[in-house]
Amino acid sequence: MKQGVILSVLLGIFILLSAAGVCQTTITISADKSGPQISPTMWGIFFEDINFNGDGGLYAELVKNRSFEFPKTMMGWRPIQGGQAAGKWTITEGQDPLNAVNPNYLRLEVQNPGEGFGLTNEGFRGIGINKGEKYYFSVFARSSSAMSLKVEVVAADGRKLLEGTLDNITGDWKNYHCLMTATETDAKATLNLLATKAGTVDLDMISLFPENSAQQMAGRPVPGLRKDVVAILAAMKPGLFRFPGGCIVEGHDLETRYQWKNTIGDINERKLIINRWNTEFKHRLTPDYFQSFGLGFYEYFLLSEQIGAEPLPILNCGMACQFNTGQLVPMDQLQPYVQDALDLIEFANGPADSEWGKKRAAMGHPEPFKMKYLGVGNEQWGPQYVERYKVFARALKEKYPEIQLVAATGSDPAIFPNGDNEVKYLWGQWRILKPEIVDEHFYRKHTWFSDNAARYDSYARNEPKVFVGEYAAMSHGVGNPDNRNNLECALAEAAFMTGLERNADVVVMTAYAPLAGHLDAWQWKPNLIWFDNLTVYGTPNYYVQKLFSTHRGDVVMPVKIDAAEGKLFVTACQDKAAGQVIIKAVNISSQPMEATVDLQGAGIVASEGQVTVLAGQPADENSVQAPTKVAPVTDTMTNAGPRFTYTFKPYSMTVLRLTVK
Ligand code: AHR
Repeated sequence: MKQGVILSVLLGIFILLSAAGVCQTTITISADKSGPQISPTMWGIFFEDINFNGDGGLYAELVKNRSFEFPKTMMGWRPIQGGQAAGKWTITEGQDPLNAVNPNYLRLEVQNPGEGFGLTNEGFRGIGINKGEKYYFSVFARSSSAMSLKVEVVAADGRKLLEGTLDNITGDWKNYHCLMTATETDAKATLNLLATKAGTVDLDMISLFPENSAQQMAGRPVPGLRKDVVAILAAMKPGLFRFPGGCIVEGHDLETRYQWKNTIGDINERKLIINRWNTEFKHRLTPDYFQSFGLGFYEYFLLSEQIGAEPLPILNCGMACQFNTGQLVPMDQLQPYVQDALDLIEFANGPADSEWGKKRAAMGHPEPFKMKYLGVGNEQWGPQYVERYKVFARALKEKYPEIQLVAATGSDPAIFPNGDNEVKYLWGQWRILKPEIVDEHFYRKHTWFSDNAARYDSYARNEPKVFVGEYAAMSHGVGNPDNRNNLECALAEAAFMTGLERNADVVVMTAYAPLAGHLDAWQWKPNLIWFDNLTVYGTPNYYVQKLFSTHRGDVVMPVKIDAAEGKLFVTACQDKAAGQVIIKAVNISSQPMEATVDLQGAGIVASEGQVTVLAGQPADENSVQAPTKVAPVTDTMTNAGPRFTYTFKPYSMTVLRLTVK
């Protein structure tokens, strides 16, 4: 009789829960068993100057075409001739330019300054100015007429936001500068530079930076990086920093490939080139997209050091982008490319008195950067790649056996006409040639990610390790401008990432791609972070990455889930230093998941734990207006123990941190 009552009560509860749409499951964690170690490089970031990510983004320069080196030399500039003003503007290679690398400069020949004779710069889709912040204007100028210049930054509605003057410009090229404090805020301001006297003046490297753009982290400045963008990257605590791409490494053709040696040393002498994303997408043409390399390899190493991420440079291997020209450097002319790679290692790690180490020291970092990884080629494929890789690997390993090499497997296999045959071919080669790490890329529908969370369960354990070097869930499709950074895609990636963590003995590094996009100047969607001239915000995808990275843990613990397969994805790991078990659970279904969590062999588990939840509706996104609409919320739980119940919200990622005594 008693048993009958209990059964009816249990049946009643079951019916109630089912009616409420609650799914039930048991999660068994073998807390006394150690799985693979999780590499500190596991959760990384991937930077490429796409979407105005570099110039117009992380690089804080506010003046576009500051050195008049764009092929259309006046692009970004317009003449100003106020009132009775009269004179002539010429952009010339002229005599004795500021330097030979950037030969163009502007000459103003002013007959009458009137109410202003000069020029205005439109910035990168406007200039973002914040009230109360200081801005540093700088220009190289020469004049034989003791010229005076007025500097002003004007809001879209005509309000003056910044004002300064530069007087007594005389003699040969010299730097003139002034510091100005903003009286108002505006996202779409313009910069005016006006001669206030008759005479002639030559101008070059016309530049405006927020004064606070020189970051002071670890006591060392990273010159000229946008503070809010650096902060959102640092908050992720990435373990790895891949740079500078991406297809940008390869170039549309070899002429426009990324050459790291052109990106170091004096900023005034870094040679500008066209950005390969300038004309890549016909539906998102950005003819004003160039690479000034103000954010170059030195700044990259410095930033990696300051945010605590291992640098992973990717270098051109003698091949231009195979989606474009696919130009190849003949094998007998490959040596300079190999030498560039050898020299980069010396620049990063060599003693301060070595040829390239000396250049690093001269820029302010005598200590080596201790770089450990190097990627040979970006998304290369085919026998021509293998041929070239062999030459690189031989030379690099001979001189620097300690550097771990990353080899590619082409682009996402879904893009190739013959499916994953390219990837299979390359993996066959890598099994023989044994680079330490092999890079795989996935740009797929969001459902592919949750369906393939077990991808690495079946990978051989004794082969090169894997870098999941570019991935992002596509709500619409690769290259589709309608792709969304919504919660549904973010959770699909999170489900996939549980599989990456579980297989930490195979997968040693990962990065979402691309990193960021300017809301008014992007070419590619989706992106992890979005920004405009004044604000920056993380997407739901960003918060997923951040949750994994800031709750990384050291050692994976085996997990078994009864029921809810394909809907609930769970991993567990140990954070040794904190004495905690970290459980990450991703519920991609519309139902709450009531789980009994069984921490087998854990010993004493404190009843109080920390719970962080990222939840919402599948279509939810963040925006400038609602930057944290989808963001994690942290709370305390009080019912933790060796066996406890927890209900995972519909459409959510949850991180539980439990203290084990
Ligand atoms: O992330 C955008 C592009 O996708 C990268 O440049 C390239 O490597 C990949 O094809």
